[in-house]
Amino acid sequence: MSAAALAELIRERQPCVVLTGAGVSTESGIPDFRSDTGIWAEVDPFEVASIHAFRRDPDRVWSFYRERIHLLLEAQPNAAHEAIATLERSGLVQAVVTQNIDLLHSRAGSRDVVEVHGSIRSAQCLGCLWSEPADAVLAQLEAAATPSCPQCGEVLKPGVVLFGELLPAAAMERATHLARSARLVLVVGSSLEVWPVAGLPLEARGFAIVNRGPTALDEQALLKVDAGAGETLRAVLDCLEEGLVS
Ligand code: APR
Repeated sequence: MSAAALAELIRERQPCVVLTGAGVSTESGIPDFRSDTGIWAEVDPFEVASIHAFRRDPDRVWSFYRERIHLLLEAQPNAAHEAIATLERSGLVQAVVTQNIDLLHSRAGSRDVVEVHGSIRSAQCLGCLWSEPADAVLAQLEAAATPSCPQCGEVLKPGVVLFGELLPAAAMERATHLARSARLVLVVGSSLEVWPVAGLPLEARGFAIVNRGPTALDEQALLKVDAGAGETLRAVLDCLEEGLVS
């Protein structure tokens, strides 16, 4: 049973760092990007989520992110987020590196969360580096197509890494350090298609994957569980709690 095998790996190969993608949040009602029902099947990411699109047509980018911010703020953490937080509290997960911008790991109780693609927590001014909290941004979006910086008047940019932007250096440095010192990186709900984050599992001394469908690194994984994140991580917790793992 693959949950028992995964529980064994987690127990044996400490420290364990979790790396999550959009697949960990679909059970919270948030679509992922590249599965058949993913967001990128409906809209071109380079039209709505790239720095070039933002500079060319900020209204278009903000109309995409206005909807996303509302959806993500209304979503609730699911069993997978909660299981990962429980594993952290029990000392079996050192930290969570996430590509997700939805804040659901922190809201589920995970304490050490590294957001390598930014988050919806705030919006940034590229002119004076002001950071505007999400609720103030949403208030502005009620009245205007794009929010502006209260300090310098520039159009604010969503606080997420757009295609064509560099990742936050401190977050990526910490994520790389965590992966290099991990004896197990546990990938949950990511196609591992987007670099440099997709390369993090290869920095570790071993990695396992819980993902519905194929990922780019399946062949090199110590274990691949092709199943739902919530059910699998709940089963892993049950194995660890029942002491079925030696
Ligand atoms: N349980 C397990 N796996 C799931 C579940 C689930 N409940 N739901 C979806 N999946 C799988 C999908 O089959 C897919 O393989 O999760 C994977 C999600 O992959 P992507 O949609 O590519 O998302 P992600 O890997 O996070 O994308 C990385 O790309 O567009 C950018 O910035 C965006 O952070 C994102 C990055």
